[in-house]
Amino acid sequence: MAAELKPDVKLHPGAHAYGRACAQLADRPRRWLVTGVAGFIGSHLLETLLSLGQQVRGLDNFMTGHRHNLEQVRASVGENAWKRFVFLEGDIRDGDTCAAACTGIDFVLHQAALGSVSRSLEDPLLCHAVNVSGFLNMLAASRAAQVQRFVYAASSATYGDHPALPKVEAQIGAPLSPYALSKYVNELYAQIYARCYGVETVGLRYFNVFGPRQDPLGAYAAVIPRWISAMLAEQSVHIYGDGATSRDFCFVDNAVQANILAALSTDPAAINQVYNVAVNARTSLTELHTSMQAMLRLSCPELLPQAPQYGDFRDGDVRHSQADIAKAARLLGYAPTHDLRQGLRKTIAWYAAPERLEPLTDPLSQA
Ligand SMILES: NC(=O)c1ccc[n+]([C@@H]2O[C@H](COP(=O)([O-])OP(=O)(O)OC[C@H]3O[C@@H](n4cnc5c(N)ncnc54)[C@H](O)[C@@H]3O)[C@@H](O)[C@H]2O)c1
Repeated sequence: MAAELKPDVKLHPGAHAYGRACAQLADRPRRWLVTGVAGFIGSHLLETLLSLGQQVRGLDNFMTGHRHNLEQVRASVGENAWKRFVFLEGDIRDGDTCAAACTGIDFVLHQAALGSVSRSLEDPLLCHAVNVSGFLNMLAASRAAQVQRFVYAASSATYGDHPALPKVEAQIGAPLSPYALSKYVNELYAQIYARCYGVETVGLRYFNVFGPRQDPLGAYAAVIPRWISAMLAEQSVHIYGDGATSRDFCFVDNAVQANILAALSTDPAAINQVYNVAVNARTSLTELHTSMQAMLRLSCPELLPQAPQYGDFRDGDVRHSQADIAKAARLLGYAPTHDLRQGLRKTIAWYAAPERLEPLTDPLSQA
């Protein structure tokens, strides 16, 4: 049985290491490269960095990201902050593009990848080209440009078939998909670049990150935006398996926090490590569905709730997932500011905003 939703986390950002890191950045701005900047997590990194007065370069080829994500960041931070952003449209599979992107950069936050397990099962060669060769290009370019630190998006998929719960960083099983393998290979390459060439790296194993701007459409959409979109259209959602499959859902602000702490840490023990990034709570898909319906009813009481439809388990999916976040707390000072409920509240409010409802519920836009 999955654990109860944890009560709201009451931490004030100024009260922990993240608050100090943000204050430090505002005092002394740095130059950042965010790859995958037009994607979900990348666009949130961009928004926070620009809000903190940083210089940001962004790289993306719009394979799964969107120009409208960049436009939303622009509207949110304002024109003055936007002037500190330079966008490069390009592909991490091209070494010269990576080299140009890394020149003169202090910190790389490498997010660009193809993020779906199902997509990797359909096209393992593409997954390898982007997630492994593209990653290696970025590491090599970061080394050549002598960046201070290379922080990269790793994944909870790396735990594979290891049964232990909660997941601790040192205990991983065999990967269950080409995607999981690609993310594990990233960690191995990062270790090698640290050991052989002295590049400082930090890997962040994200667990089911969610929040505004996550793409709700298409065959590879993640569960929360896909379900919100279906619920807003009064459609029944599809649950793969019996609904007991569980996840540690992590609001995107927590992932942003982990990136900034990982880039700025001055503790030698914290560098060249991988960290779980989530909240250490476990919620089943059925519980998630119930919570989302209840919250959506508050913002949109006119919507008719639909019962979910249960179907087959999906290939490559891990059955249960929950992060032990003690290592990130101890070495980075990571303290999630949002639990599932707080994150869902903000996410649902964003998707249910009138300016977004029309494209979300237009069936032609889901093709
Ligand atoms: N969202 C999650 O729950 C989650 C969980 C674990 C790991 N991750 C990892 O976090 C990172 C960001 O994920 P996201 O959810 O923001 O996904 P996303 O698809 O929204 O963002 C990925 C971005 O990378 C860009 N990109 C893809 N291939 C590229 C290429 N060849 N060259 C340049 N840009 C390219 C895409 O256009 C997109 O903008 C990925 O590395 C993903 O594997 C995400």
